[in-house]
Amino acid sequence: MNGDSFQETMYIEENTYKNDMISLIFSLKEKVGALAKVLRIFEEKSINLIHIESRPSRVNKDEYEFFINLDRRNTPLLTDIIKTLRNEIGVTVHELSRKKKKDAVPWFPRTIQELDRFANQILTYGAELDADHPGFKDPVYRARRKEFADIAYNYRHGQPIPKVTYTEEEKKTWGTVFRELKTLYPTHACYEHNHVFPLLEKYCGYQEDNIPQLEDVSKFLQTCTGFRLRPVAGLLSSRDFLAGLAFRVFHSTQYIRHGSKPMYTPEPDVCHELLGHVPLFADISFAQFSQEIGLASLGAPDEYIEKLATVYWFTVEFGLCKEGDAIKAYGAGLLSSFGELQYCLSDKPEIQSLNLEKTAVQKYPVTEFQPVYYVAESFKNAKEKVRRFASTIPRPFSVRYNPYTQRIEVLDNANQLKNLAESISSEMGTLCSALKKIE
Ligand SMILES: [Fe+2]
Repeated sequence: MNGDSFQETMYIEENTYKNDMISLIFSLKEKVGALAKVLRIFEEKSINLIHIESRPSRVNKDEYEFFINLDRRNTPLLTDIIKTLRNEIGVTVHELSRKKKKDAVPWFPRTIQELDRFANQILTYGAELDADHPGFKDPVYRARRKEFADIAYNYRHGQPIPKVTYTEEEKKTWGTVFRELKTLYPTHACYEHNHVFPLLEKYCGYQEDNIPQLEDVSKFLQTCTGFRLRPVAGLLSSRDFLAGLAFRVFHSTQYIRHGSKPMYTPEPDVCHELLGHVPLFADISFAQFSQEIGLASLGAPDEYIEKLATVYWFTVEFGLCKEGDAIKAYGAGLLSSFGELQYCLSDKPEIQSLNLEKTAVQKYPVTEFQPVYYVAESFKNAKEKVRRFASTIPRPFSVRYNPYTQRIEVLDNANQLKNLAESISSEMGTLCSALKKIE
């Protein structure tokens, strides 16, 4: 039972599956008789535990974790037992290997390290190009794309993102995009984008003749909002991509579009990420809003993942926002496209207010300008809307991100709610004392 939690879980799943057993991990406060109480519940249902072992909990210092195995034939009784453990004894239960029912909660990462799993779950590897890609017939470009894909594939959380020496041609492509877009930002980009951009020029090497390094940008974002970048080798599923946001991790490409068409790219590239996404992730309200979408996605059923991905599309990628009487762009797909940035604020497209019930089911094209854009009142307002939307997602628990442990806390038992209440109460104390001092 040593090693990191990822390896443990994999081992247990594999092992128990073969032996046709069910495995559970639950944690208990260290108290005389606490374990006996739990064991009595199994005894009352005449369930024989095949294996049991314990270890100190890494999350709560006064708790112990117990790992147990029981025969799979006891599956029908398990739902009741887990409910009793959670509600009456207040233990945290992780079920590791019961055969998944149709309505079971999909797996989601609980720790930031578990995002490493996604590196092996990409839908397409970044080096594979479609026949209509501008770089399809260019062997040099394709080899270069493989280098970038390999960096991302081998990346693990906690490592610095490897720096890349961009070629003169790549820098030229970046320079063209950078120069053109910069002429539009003062009039078309939202306040937040224009506010952060000069800081990126000052601290992160945003220059016409220099492609910034993801590592430098990631460090900068961490000091602003705790967001960080992570290189990605190819296209992730919506579920995996959104899960990253729950940890304030943004999966970013590192390669650049093909030099033959500097103002066009059929996929995200480093221009899109650095010019479109990064400035907004440095804004506190926008960061909270993005994380809220990520948290809502954890363990959500597939149809809700699709809805959240659509909300993401019409906000983080193609969102417009109000600024006094004016409308400005904050979506990264707009801020990184010279053509669409002008088009979205012209009188051609349809503009609607952000309304998640409607926005979440809006159909959209991926290869042409959007016919419809949604306008947010503010990022705070958009965040509240996502929060309300999240409460309609059918899942048997709430989640919260703990930035100290970089873990997702699943709030599904009395003890955890008590811990949360205590931490809010201590923050309230700080707030009250600070308010008194500025009176
Ligand atoms: Fe994007």
